[in-house]
Amino acid sequence: MKISIGCDHIVTEEKNHLVKYLKEKNHEVIDNGTYDKERTHYPIYGKKTAEKVVSGEADLGIVVCGTGVGISVSANKVRGARAALVADVETARYARENLNANVIAVGGRIVGMGLIENIIDVFLETEYNKTEENERMIEKIDALADNTEQMNNQKYFDEFIEKWDRGEYHD
Ligand code: RB5
Repeated sequence: MKISIGCDHIVTEEKNHLVKYLKEKNHEVIDNGTYDKERTHYPIYGKKTAEKVVSGEADLGIVVCGTGVGISVSANKVRGARAALVADVETARYARENLNANVIAVGGRIVGMGLIENIIDVFLETEYNKTEENERMIEKIDALADNTEQMNNQKYFDEFIEKWDRGEYHD
């Protein structure tokens, strides 16, 4: 797979470790930086990493900052990016399987490297479950970025609420 990866200065070593880890697993890696520990800003790398995924240059993305919060929020501002901030394997699996998350975010100062490796393995191995329900939900989520129809529209999610009321959800 071709993986786009980025981080801020707080977790450069962790990102470098992950680049090596991915290459050892025969993935192709686009390393968007940062490349040293000089103070920088995580939105730069969240944007660069997510853009490579959305454009199709990379298959999936990985973003890392201290907590994972800043860089995941930044990546999510790129239209078409669905970045999931996770700290456990099951959430990574869920994000890929149901949300078709295309970027995974982790807090390099919060989560241990062993667990980060497991999270990434599961994220890369899990296939998106392309059901009608998942597709419809993702379409709605993606449209939040550019669809004025939903702005100030209190009925935007009514179809899902009605479905819930009819007892059609079982989770
Ligand atoms: C450092 O800029 C730190 O705030 C950042 O790595 C991250 O933890 C933010 O979410």
